[in-house]
Amino acid sequence: MMALLKRHRTLCLALFLGFFLDYPALAAWNFDSVRPSEVPWRNSGKETLVFSNAMLLEQPRELMAANLLAGFFHPLIFWMAGTILAGGLLVRLVLCKKARKRTQELSQLWEDCRHSQEDLQRSNQKLKTLIQSAPTAVIALDREGNVDSWNPAAAKMLGWLEEEVLGRPLPIVPAEGQARHQRILESLQNGNVLRGEVVQPLRKDGSRFIASLSVSPLLDESGQVNGSMAVLMDITRQKLAEETLRASEERYRDLFENAKDMIYTRDLEGKLTSVNKEMERITGYTREELIGMNILEIVAPEHRPVVEQFIRDSNAEASQVTREAELITKDGRRVPVQANVRVICRDGKPVEVEAICRDLSEQKQMQAQLWQAQKMEAVGRLAGGVAHDFNNLLNVIGGYSEMLLDEAGKGSTLRHYAEEIRKAADQAASVTRQLLAFSHKQVLQPRVLDLTGLVTDLSKMLRRLIGEDVQLSTVLQPALGLVKADPSQLEQVIMNLAVNSRDAMPQGGRLTIETANVELDEEYTRLHPPCQPGPYVLLAVSDTGAGMNARTRAHIFEPFFTTKPLGKGTGLGLSMVYGIVKQSGGYISVYSEPGHGTTFKIYLPRVEATGEFLQERQAVASLPRGSETVLVVEDEPAVRELAREFLESSGYQVLDAEGGPAALELVKQYPSPIHVLLTDVIMPKMSGKELVGEVMKLLPKTKILYMSGYTDDIIADHGILEAGTYFLQKPFTRDALASKVRKVLEG
Ligand SMILES: Nc1ncnc2c1ncn2[C@@H]1O[C@H](COP(=O)(O)OP(=O)(O)OP(=O)(O)O)[C@@H](O)[C@H]1O
Ligand SMILES: [Mg+2]
Repeated sequence: MMALLKRHRTLCLALFLGFFLDYPALAAWNFDSVRPSEVPWRNSGKETLVFSNAMLLEQPRELMAANLLAGFFHPLIFWMAGTILAGGLLVRLVLCKKARKRTQELSQLWEDCRHSQEDLQRSNQKLKTLIQSAPTAVIALDREGNVDSWNPAAAKMLGWLEEEVLGRPLPIVPAEGQARHQRILESLQNGNVLRGEVVQPLRKDGSRFIASLSVSPLLDESGQVNGSMAVLMDITRQKLAEETLRASEERYRDLFENAKDMIYTRDLEGKLTSVNKEMERITGYTREELIGMNILEIVAPEHRPVVEQFIRDSNAEASQVTREAELITKDGRRVPVQANVRVICRDGKPVEVEAICRDLSEQKQMQAQLWQAQKMEAVGRLAGGVAHDFNNLLNVIGGYSEMLLDEAGKGSTLRHYAEEIRKAADQAASVTRQLLAFSHKQVLQPRVLDLTGLVTDLSKMLRRLIGEDVQLSTVLQPALGLVKADPSQLEQVIMNLAVNSRDAMPQGGRLTIETANVELDEEYTRLHPPCQPGPYVLLAVSDTGAGMNARTRAHIFEPFFTTKPLGKGTGLGLSMVYGIVKQSGGYISVYSEPGHGTTFKIYLPRVEATGEFLQERQAVASLPRGSETVLVVEDEPAVRELAREFLESSGYQVLDAEGGPAALELVKQYPSPIHVLLTDVIMPKMSGKELVGEVMKLLPKTKILYMSGYTDDIIADHGILEAGTYFLQKPFTRDALASKVRKVLEG
């Protein structure tokens, strides 16, 4: 072996040198294939170690192969002597320089890396400071949902200090929120982010508040979710403000929607943009139909120009107006409204128009009713005044025609003239009587009575009156309340209405008379001035006749208004009805449409039963009789005779006289007491009142009963007789006379 080494000494030296000399060169050569990321930096700061380690740990096989190759070639190089060695040395030098440059680059890289690590640390610190000083609560949770970090704002907001909650489950989730909390955690595990969830966390003191929660997952280096970061903001105030705003908006919407007036908004061209319920109700159109419709489409044609003008003006400048107009509803009805219209401006420019419209139908109806009542009152006063004056004149005409009759010989032309004058005066007196009835100036003899009984008694006569073609039905309430009225006047009322109905049903039909107890409430009386609320008895007379149009309806109660041909109707029937009802404290209304018949409703105030009523009811059962003495004073022989007959048949002793002076003579001479003086009011020589005055001086205990065909201020100032004075309307029936005399005697 030694021999071999000696023989090949040069070769061995060359091998040895070549191996060591060229090792770094080859390493540098190979270095290009070593990536910086693969170098274990942290273990060494020295470049040689870098190389050697790199060579040994990362590239051993390649290096070995390279070295073997080098070992193989070196003998050859030595063999080829020094020139090649020199070349090798040169190559090595070059390679060494390249290696140094690489080393510098790598150390620069390492330096950069160290800097960025420091930057990272700094920014981490900054972030930590930021979170710590953040005004909102920032909470980090670990993978299990336990608290990992809890900033001071969280402590302040929630009440727990960081050390109280670290490593523990989140304490702020209320019992009912646990399920949701779990769902959120699961969602975060899947990498989802949560923004602006509204939650109600618990504070340490048990109180609650409203918060907005945003959570995002935290990832580790490998991109796995290993926790979460939550930001919690107290939005209680904001929510409260929102709630207040919502409540106020709701209030305004409610005000708008449920207002008793119609409210709408429209654009500047007149197109409706919003409407309320009342608008739908009154116009009959639905909201969908109205919106987009031009307001002009529901305005009555004659009011359109004014509205159009306003639409044009509202473009020019802001304004507010109040107008009356009529709307046309979907079914064609007209509704009078008062519109308060306002142009709404934004930034000084008109943008839309809002209007509040009040339905005036009710108000107009009330106005019309009131106007009608006032008109009737005025006409009544006028008619009453005229009738009163005419009555006086007719008295004179009647009186002098009587005298003429007395003077004129039987069969003479003069007598005939006088008779005609007297007839005409009687007829005229009948007209004035009706006029006086209309103007509530009749002498009424009111008493408490039951309308059911009155109608029943009258129905036989009514059947005859209305003829065979008209059927009479009565719907009478058995336990009907009582009213205080003059029965003969009420009979007059019913008869007038029945005759009108008969006239309205020339081809026949049905006449229905109904009585009922009713209560008139505030609602009804408000719409029917001057009605007062309270208990009433209703007397309704309906027919199935021709009915009336609005024009006729408006005038029927006026005296002399008639649609009947000349000589058929005087137009006084309903005015009398009106007057009697009014004078009895009641109200009358009419419901009628052409072709749909007519109903008159009379409301008379209900009264309590009085002793007088109960007595009278008994008296009706048997006609009152008596044996007392009655003195009848009447200038009309036929009437005087009739009264005598009636009274005698009822058992009375009867004396009679044709005037005041004769009666006074009789009183002076008659030996026995005279219990009742029945006297006419108007007589030629001495009036009833004068006679009564004289008789009272002689026989103060005698009871007085006046009788008259019509009223006069001598008897009554205000239409109704003073208490204690009795009055009998002419013409009278036997029953009427007998009851009245009995009443006077017992009164
Ligand atoms: N039941 C009814 N149906 C239809 N129209 C009626 C009815 N009652 C009254 N009228 C109308 O009212 C008008 C006035 O009636 P009113 O009783 O005052 O006078 P008249 O009947 O014409 O005459 P008079 O009653 O004096 O004989 C009538 O002419 C008629 O046009
Ligand atoms: Mg009539």
